[in-house]
Amino acid sequence: MTTSSVKGFRDILPEEAAGRRAVLATASEMLVAYSYREVELPLLEHGELFARTIGESTDIVEKEMYAFEDRDGSLLALRPEGTASLVRAYIEAGLSRSLPVARLYYQGPMFRRERPQKGRFRQFTQIGAELIGRNDAGADAESISLAADICSAAGVEGFRIEINSLGDQQCRPAYREALVAFGREHIAELCDDCRSRIERNPLRLLDCKVEGCRTLMGAAPMMGDQLCDPCRAHHDSVLEILDASGIEVVARPSMVRGLDYYCRTAFELIADGLGAQDAIGGGGRYDGLVAKLGGPDLAGVGFALGVERMLMAAGSQATDAGPEMLVAPLCAEAAATAASLARRLRQAGRRVEIGSAERRLKAQMKSADKTGVAFVVIIGEQELAGGSATVRDMAAGQDLPACFPLMATGAEAIAAMEGGGRDEA
Ligand code: HAM
Repeated sequence: MTTSSVKGFRDILPEEAAGRRAVLATASEMLVAYSYREVELPLLEHGELFARTIGESTDIVEKEMYAFEDRDGSLLALRPEGTASLVRAYIEAGLSRSLPVARLYYQGPMFRRERPQKGRFRQFTQIGAELIGRNDAGADAESISLAADICSAAGVEGFRIEINSLGDQQCRPAYREALVAFGREHIAELCDDCRSRIERNPLRLLDCKVEGCRTLMGAAPMMGDQLCDPCRAHHDSVLEILDASGIEVVARPSMVRGLDYYCRTAFELIADGLGAQDAIGGGGRYDGLVAKLGGPDLAGVGFALGVERMLMAAGSQATDAGPEMLVAPLCAEAAATAASLARRLRQAGRRVEIGSAERRLKAQMKSADKTGVAFVVIIGEQELAGGSATVRDMAAGQDLPACFPLMATGAEAIAAMEGGGRDEA
């Protein structure tokens, strides 16, 4: 009997690991170019943190959190997202005093108990960036620009940016009422989920996937038509700055996002060809969230990208670089010298694998050929006695005329091998 992995939790095998590392490194570079600094956040938080921020009646909090009671009776949760944790950390560390405008980012696994399907997992990795302390339209535009630039730099092709404004405390309550009225009027045409959403979370009616609801909601009032003047002006400024920066966005008036903390700008990056789970990232403005968690009244805007979906959209072919050299001991007595020499070569910057003294030279050569090794450093009884190794140039298919000294430093050995060998060859 073998024990399998937990449903929705994947192993990242070597073929995928290199591509992921490259995406994360590229993202970090871009984040640093935009002046963001990294924060490493814990995976486990108090459950109430997410109920207070993402919202009690959201799918994430109601159905998808891995929440459990700890031994002391406290309710803990594996983080389903990073914004709430980052804002908590920002307040807890008193950063509002030293960094009233903070650009912070995080990378790491998030957990949601959703139904697994293509591009949707129960453990997935996000790259998230938050800009706290700026309420101007330039901040929203910066966030969108950064998300787009990370995706482009990571090789994600063919994505579009969709945008909407969700209004604020001034204009959203009236819109919410209009939506509730619309829902009540058409209750017979709505699915069961939407019927229960009408009073609890009416905005979610707008992103129901059921065909009947989608058709009906096409005729529903839209937030964009009911924005108050300041929200309208803010949205227009965001669009104007993006346009001036050469960043194309398309309006999606029905976008509401699945987390309650948003106000004004909401955006998603959608990739072609990913199927149903085509959002490679999403974000928006969350003024009021810092205060809600007990901090000062600061604005905020940010986004998170899904690394697995970015990789799917980029079709990454990255692989780890294989060994450049194989040190092949041919007898048990050569094993210690081989290990010591291999270590010196690595210290000189080479990628080096050691063969087994129990395998014949032919077998060791064959695997060197397979892994694309350029040089095989052979150490048998003869080499031990003579104090220098025989080096096989795999591309040339012959031994180098110059051997290298077994006791030399890695750099000396390489110089002897490359310089001496090539000159004479
Ligand atoms: P979100 O839209 O829930 O936003 O997630 C952001 C991205 O994470 C999604 O667009 C998707 O690429 C990826 N993602 C989400 N769930 C899954 C899943 N089950 N499997 C694979 N990938 C997934 C947030 O999490 C917000 N915290 C973003 C934000 C930051 N807003 C402001 N600041």
